[in-house]
Amino acid sequence: MNYGEKASSGLKKIYRKDPVKKSVLRTPLDLTGAIFVFGKIGSGKTVTLLTLSGIYHDNPARRYKIFDAWGGERNENLYWGLPSNKNRYWNYLKKALRLDEEGAKQYKVEYIYPMNPKLRQKLPFNPPNVTSKIITFDINDIKAEDFSLVVGSVSESSIGLWNEVIMDAKKGASAYEIAHLYRKRVSKTNILFNAAINPMVKKLLIQNKKSIFNYGQKQISKMLDDQETITVLCMDGLDVEFQLFVVGYIIRKIKEEIDRRRRKVIINMREVSEFFKVNDFSIVPERFKVMKRMLSNWIRYGRRGMHFILDVQSIADVRGIVGGQQDLTFLGRLPDQRDREEATRQLIRDGLIKDRHVKVLGTNSPGQFIVCPGGKQTQYNYMLLPRCRFWETSNGNFYNNVWKKEVGRWINFDEERDQMKEKYFLDVKEYEIRNKKVDKRRKIKEEVEEEEDDNEVEIETPIIEDKRPSSIYDFIEEKEV
Ligand SMILES: Nc1ncnc2c1ncn2[C@@H]1O[C@H](COP(=O)(O)OP(=O)(O)OP(=O)(O)O)[C@@H](O)[C@H]1O
Ligand SMILES: [Mg+2]
Repeated sequence: MNYGEKASSGLKKIYRKDPVKKSVLRTPLDLTGAIFVFGKIGSGKTVTLLTLSGIYHDNPARRYKIFDAWGGERNENLYWGLPSNKNRYWNYLKKALRLDEEGAKQYKVEYIYPMNPKLRQKLPFNPPNVTSKIITFDINDIKAEDFSLVVGSVSESSIGLWNEVIMDAKKGASAYEIAHLYRKRVSKTNILFNAAINPMVKKLLIQNKKSIFNYGQKQISKMLDDQETITVLCMDGLDVEFQLFVVGYIIRKIKEEIDRRRRKVIINMREVSEFFKVNDFSIVPERFKVMKRMLSNWIRYGRRGMHFILDVQSIADVRGIVGGQQDLTFLGRLPDQRDREEATRQLIRDGLIKDRHVKVLGTNSPGQFIVCPGGKQTQYNYMLLPRCRFWETSNGNFYNNVWKKEVGRWINFDEERDQMKEKYFLDVKEYEIRNKKVDKRRKIKEEVEEEEDDNEVEIETPIIEDKRPSSIYDFIEEKEV
């Protein structure tokens, strides 16, 4: 759309009748399932994902909570924190299309950063609108299945064992202690311990029950209730191996929360082709396969109020997952003939798509979409740009090029991080000292028992036995003193 040049006067009347105005999607369709946005590279998928989230969030008839869970490789989710800078565009639209609503908007945004040693020090902070915080997870709250988003499917026996360890752990046991209680019961090469539990505890992402940064049920419930704030999950610095775990954990918690009390929430995920195109034979990390299974499952949660907006390049990537009558599909430019056929086959059979809509699929410009509301006739829509900023090729690094120049206000959690590290070392020390003591006790007990066995025949006089303390622990204590 050539929006810049036509902003001259005299065009209002023409544009009032213009089909473009009619085609602007402003009142969002009712949601029953997920929203899929399809299109080739550069067809405007990610921009549309933002616009859609924006209208579902802003529209008084909808008022959805937005949780932006996956920014893709370019961290495109960070851009929520700034208002749109397309002034010419909004001025043009307001005049030419007589749009009544405001254009650019400064959203209230909370960036949440999973704790990790490589996390950048300065995080965006522009209160009261934009805040950042770090988050950690309570070890007692983690299910063995959550770890499958790190190491791939987890065996029944590992699940059972993990549950047992969590249940048996003393009240107040540290994350380090719980992790090592698990380790003691498995082999040295146990993948769950070595690739997931241990490194995540060491890197401070998984914490003791009392950590003030824990993002648990209470915090997630509060997050869902705060409809106004857009919550953005940022993976800066976090090892790729742990990123899906974080997404999975939070979505599981959201699911549990809306089961408890219904809320309307939209979860954004960009570039999900990455997960969906894997099959059992592809050579990708196992966690991607688990993610695909989980995503397909979560998508069905629409009926309970949890919806996804997913941006996907090719229909082929989601074969067998989409197609439910419940889903709302946006078809952008699909230059590939097979893609177009696949996208429209069922719609043609059901008489739900017009020929002219099929025809434009190969040539749609960014922002132009054929919208397929499940079970209803398709419609042609132009999607406005989002009211917040969005990623563009010229942006470069968000922090250094965009935020620094335009806002330049930051918050750091250095002190809290140091405290967390210190606490971890204390926990390790405490556990080791205690463990050494226990080992020592065990050793002495064994020695004494051995001695007892050896002496069984020789020691006959009861006097010696009487002198022996009644409890082996008293005996050690005496020795230690
Ligand atoms: N509604 C729109 N109106 C005008 N221009 C748009 C619109 N949507 C997108 N564009 C333009 O198209 C560009 C690409 O959009 P976007 O990044 O959403 O594409 P994409 O399909 O997500 O691409 P990729 O596959 O590379 O992620 C934007 O930077 C913007 O310039
Ligand atoms: Mg994109």
